[in-house]
Amino acid sequence: MRHYPIAKPYITKKEEKYVLEVLRSGILSIGEKVEEFEKLFAKYIGAKYVCAVSSGTAGLHLTMIAAGVKAGDEVITTPFSFVASANAIIYVGAKPVFVDIDPFSYNIDPKKIEAKITGKTKAILVVHIFGQTADMEPIKAIAKKYKLKIIEDACESIGASYNGRQAGTFGESAVFAFYPNKQMTTGEGGMIVTNNKKIYEICVSLRNQGRAKNMQWLDHKYLGYNYRMDEMSAAVGLAQLEKIDWMIAQRCKIAGWYNKYLSPYNDLVQSPMVAKGNKHSWFVYVIKLLPKGANRDKIINQLKLKEIYTKPYLPSIHLFDFYKKHFGFKKGDFPVSEEMSAYSLALPIYIGLKENDIKYIVSQLLNVIKKV
Ligand SMILES: Cc1ncc(COP(=O)(O)O)c(C=O)c1O
Repeated sequence: MRHYPIAKPYITKKEEKYVLEVLRSGILSIGEKVEEFEKLFAKYIGAKYVCAVSSGTAGLHLTMIAAGVKAGDEVITTPFSFVASANAIIYVGAKPVFVDIDPFSYNIDPKKIEAKITGKTKAILVVHIFGQTADMEPIKAIAKKYKLKIIEDACESIGASYNGRQAGTFGESAVFAFYPNKQMTTGEGGMIVTNNKKIYEICVSLRNQGRAKNMQWLDHKYLGYNYRMDEMSAAVGLAQLEKIDWMIAQRCKIAGWYNKYLSPYNDLVQSPMVAKGNKHSWFVYVIKLLPKGANRDKIINQLKLKEIYTKPYLPSIHLFDFYKKHFGFKKGDFPVSEEMSAYSLALPIYIGLKENDIKYIVSQLLNVIKKV
């Protein structure tokens, strides 16, 4: 039987070679590879400053601190995201204020933002979900009107663009993530990007235990963290970055095959929608099951028996226990997000899948949907 994981990193001899070079050099942390990776990543994104960190979550935490978000502040964001985006707001003592999503892009709905702005609102943490940017023009206009900072969680959207502009270049800072299910990986890892030198300097210091520039090794000016990226991770990142455009093109091809084989069944399945002017970079290919009351979890289990691994993407953050307990959120607060959470299904997408594989996965999916 064919076996289809939901995601798989694309690792070649190049990654092996670069990691081996690091291992043989004996310099496993705070070395040249991280610097080289940062330099090339800055060039790729078109940002002045970048700061490699140990994860996307670490990056989001530091950008919150660097933006001056603190206890008592509110940050507007989406409930339809991976939990780390909202958690980063809580790490600095601020309150995540959720705004429901647009039913087509699954990104924050700009039309619903203004109603949530209060005197305490400090920033909008925009998440570009699944590989597609949020609708940035109206969001930028709102941020300007109310003097709010924009921070981008671009963890899922490397290589995406909006009217020709790269994800990660709209806000005061942005964060990318390189977990192995992402479009490119470093194992664990993340990258903060910004054009603001001050933000950059704060992040560089805080990722390395709060050392100020030119300080001695055991001297610490600020309350910092160990959020450093190690040299092996940076070596993997360098090899991945060399082929990032090709890797995203492969994902686009796979998404195109899914679109092709699913389109005759648009009464059963809503395929992902790409807004005009957007380039999607396909972190995941997420469909929405359309039959009312479709038993998504049973569909997942049935597909698993056929070794096709799928996942609900994503649960709505406000309905996690911690959020319900601490902020009083409840079912019904964000109906568009909740409906997507109930009926969404991420299908396998990774380099190596061929058109025939997608045809097979879709045929199995349709069989199961019709049966359960
Ligand atoms: C939207 C979003 N934000 C943040 C993160 C956190 O990244 P990491 O897992 O590298 O900490 C992820 C990663 O899955 C993500 O998808």
